[in-house]
Amino acid sequence: MKPQAYVFDAYGTLFDVYSVQAKCEEIFPGKGADLTRLWRTKQLEYSWLRSLMARYENFWKLTGDGLRYSCQFLGLKPGQEQMEELMQSYLALAAFPETGQVLEKLAGFSRVILSNGTPAMLEAVVRHNRLEGQFDHILSVDELKIYKPHPAVYQLAVDRLGLAKENIAFVSSNGWDVAGAKAFGFTVYWLNRPGAPVEELGVQPEAILKSPLELLYIP
Ligand code: LAC
Repeated sequence: MKPQAYVFDAYGTLFDVYSVQAKCEEIFPGKGADLTRLWRTKQLEYSWLRSLMARYENFWKLTGDGLRYSCQFLGLKPGQEQMEELMQSYLALAAFPETGQVLEKLAGFSRVILSNGTPAMLEAVVRHNRLEGQFDHILSVDELKIYKPHPAVYQLAVDRLGLAKENIAFVSSNGWDVAGAKAFGFTVYWLNRPGAPVEELGVQPEAILKSPLELLYIP
């Protein structure tokens, strides 16, 4: 059955978190790739750890904390201004090339962002990519003060859309987010651009896509 709404993860799915690499490389030549990857890894780790510790801080704070840790780990010493520049680059992540086209083609359905990002971070990155008007809702975990993959986060989309879980198509590039959404009960499409193995978390997505354009051809 055709879903009635498409709920998208933001970071890594609609927007390329590795697009900060150019700025990282400009500031720390030769270290851009390592810093970009570790930054993202720590940002996510902190989201899971803080959820388990019941010590919520918002995703902007975690993004800064992840950056500080990563710089320390790699022996990099950014000044105040460089930290500011790196953080600002997170508000100006590039959308993946197909993002705008897919959203336009799905205009007949509810299109939603459901993300760990704060409302301000999400609004900034949507505006930067001129995607305002493409979403019916931009939902942030910030109102719940717990991160994905807690089921309460996925429930937020159900409550806001007023649809049955299985009629909601959830799209994420993050394998762990896919597992969380599937365990919750969404119809889940994994946008697996790099061809990674399915996470060993006991659930399987409905389909694995190489490009979000494939969403348009799912019967
Ligand atoms: C998000 C993270 C998981 O956008 O990428 O929620």
